[in-house]
Amino acid sequence: MTTPSGRRVTMVAAVAENGVIGADADIPWKISEDFAHFKATTLGHVLVMGRTTHEGIGRPLPGRTTIVLTRDTDWSAEGVRVAHSITDALELADELLREQPADRQVMIGGGAAVYAAALPYADEQVISEIPLAPEGDTHYPEFSRKRWQEVRREPRGGFTIVWWERVFACNAG
Ligand SMILES: NC(=O)c1ccc[n+]([C@@H]2O[C@H](COP(=O)([O-])OP(=O)(O)OC[C@H]3O[C@@H](n4cnc5c(N)ncnc54)[C@H](OP(=O)(O)O)[C@@H]3O)[C@@H](O)[C@H]2O)c1
Repeated sequence: MTTPSGRRVTMVAAVAENGVIGADADIPWKISEDFAHFKATTLGHVLVMGRTTHEGIGRPLPGRTTIVLTRDTDWSAEGVRVAHSITDALELADELLREQPADRQVMIGGGAAVYAAALPYADEQVISEIPLAPEGDTHYPEFSRKRWQEVRREPRGGFTIVWWERVFACNAG
């Protein structure tokens, strides 16, 4: 689906067996190898995240240009750019990447509301399958296995990373 100027859009998430991604504004597991994978995957790219996730982390993640999504037009925070809709975020990402190499892209870093908003625009999903079923209050959005194809699966220590590519050029998620 890409951004207006053709940059790839990739969702990067860690999802439990029951679809949970968060609880009480935090992630209900600590898997350092998955944090390292998130860092390696997103480093050097534009990272889009929701205001709740950004405030949970408490600082901009180094080595990435962060765009925070909020509907609050008065909101700002040090070291991040702000957008008020997913389409504005993708346009801003294009602007920020204009002089950057072609492989620099847009990474969607959650949480649930932002994954749901970005899914129709995503080309790829990189999902860490976490073999747990914790209680939680936020879930990864459902997506159609007819429109998404698993292209790679890589077991890591205690979890598995799965790469999904969009199959059909349609924007129904
Ligand atoms: N497991 C993982 O991989 C992973 C990754 C990231 C986060 N998480 C977890 O997910 C949870 C947070 O998810 P969440 O859904 O509650 O919050 P979120 O997506 O991080 O942020 C939600 C906020 O972002 C803004 N927003 C969302 N969609 C928008 C849109 N389309 N246009 C404009 N603004 C928009 C709104 O901010 P305003 O209210 O300011 O308007 C909204 O309240 C936490 O528990 C976090 O730890 C898990």
